[in-house]
Amino acid sequence: MAKSRSTFVCQNCGAVTNRWQGRCDSCQEWNSIVEEDAGPPTAIRAHRGRAFALEGLSGEGRAAPRIVTGIAEFDRVTGGGFVHGSVTLLGGEPGIGKSTLLIQACAALARRGARVIYISGEEAVAQVRLRAARLDLADASVELASATQVEDILATCSTGKRAALIVIDSIQTMHTETVESSPGTVTQVRASAQALLRHAKHSGSSIILVGHVTKDGQVAGPRVVEHMVDAVLSFEGDGAHHFRMLRASKNRFGATGEIGVFEMTGLGLAEVANPSALFLAGRDAAAPGAAVLAGMEGQRPMLIEIQALVAPSSLGTPRRAVVGFDQNRLAMILAVLEAHGGLKLGAHDVYLNVAGGMRADEPAADLAAAAALVSSLTGAPLPPRQVYFGEIGLSGAVRPVIHAGLRLKESGKLGFSSAVLSQLQQLNDEDKSAGVTPRPLTDVGALVAEIARSATRRREGQHQDIA
Ligand code: TYD
Ligand code: MG
Repeated sequence: MAKSRSTFVCQNCGAVTNRWQGRCDSCQEWNSIVEEDAGPPTAIRAHRGRAFALEGLSGEGRAAPRIVTGIAEFDRVTGGGFVHGSVTLLGGEPGIGKSTLLIQACAALARRGARVIYISGEEAVAQVRLRAARLDLADASVELASATQVEDILATCSTGKRAALIVIDSIQTMHTETVESSPGTVTQVRASAQALLRHAKHSGSSIILVGHVTKDGQVAGPRVVEHMVDAVLSFEGDGAHHFRMLRASKNRFGATGEIGVFEMTGLGLAEVANPSALFLAGRDAAAPGAAVLAGMEGQRPMLIEIQALVAPSSLGTPRRAVVGFDQNRLAMILAVLEAHGGLKLGAHDVYLNVAGGMRADEPAADLAAAAALVSSLTGAPLPPRQVYFGEIGLSGAVRPVIHAGLRLKESGKLGFSSAVLSQLQQLNDEDKSAGVTPRPLTDVGALVAEIARSATRRREGQHQDIA
């Protein structure tokens, strides 16, 4: 028998070397290389290929049949349901709610009469049952098992009626007999995923693989799994807050811009059809330092509140702290406000927070952040029914951003009456019909001047009250 070879595989990026080393040359991660058994060397045989027919782009193509779960926020992200025979990877941090989401999706599908199999490699059947009972899903005819052996799982799934959906929770716990390394290693994860992928294509069942993520948010194990599967979804959220967001970073059967919003409740994940209302709930519109951003999450408009606090500092080097916002962008906005807005912020601490545990990463958030900062510094609250969106350039100019129409429509729907935006923002008649008055700005100087004017008016008003 041929002697088996050892290879050394980086558990972070999947790079293969022929000797152990402390740091991976390819991804620079320390201590990530593990020895794995590559199996006996395959004999290389000269193989003459058979020619096959090539085809043109036009021709018969059917729309892929889809399995609709009935959970609208989920179906929206997959592009209208799972495609038969497709494999989807669902990544997310531990405890974020992946298993909860999937057991709910399985139950919803089973209640529509489909055969659904849920394989847990992490929890015992009793644990899954307990959760299902708590979520009031115990009556759904989901077929459960706790197993980790891929060959056994595939044999089980191949008997009986074809399953519409098979959930594998999680791919890191699976192992296949075709390779010898231990579960969770790159080789095992890759081989298990490959076997499951073959089963999906062959049987037409749709498979969802749950994947753990590393501390920097990537699906742990080899990136190759992401390349193999048809769709990659990630389930995100802030542990301290209740809302969760499902987004697609890859989808061979649909767009990737859609996001789904859920709220974790005592009874599992509830769909949030109107996230803007959730994020703006409990807002104190009369307080200075808060601006509403008409933002976008993928293709979906979302209004979120950006809060700023600018206060005189007692420190030699004033503090600049952000939550849900990029530190470098804040530094840039402050520099532009000083250089082109005439503000003096060198002796002030600056805090910027995006309410509700959201992140505002798009450039369109610049204008809302700037408005919140100026409002906090001057003590003048911003008009309560006004939204902001626009990018700020280093020259101080306010620049147009994409999806102005969607942003205005969402603002109108939530009762906002005006929107501060770039003067260069192109608006068509439909955009203007949202009932939100555009208030175009050329640069940050104009923004500062306007907020300062309202601060002066406010002070004069107060003096009159006293007099
Ligand atoms: P879970 O689905 O097990 O997370 P994952 O599979 O991503 O690791 O979710 C676990 C968390 O969700 C747990 O910490 C408690 C919370 N949770 C609720 O708040 N309400 C519920 O109804 C359920 C089932 C879980
Ligand atoms: Mg889980």
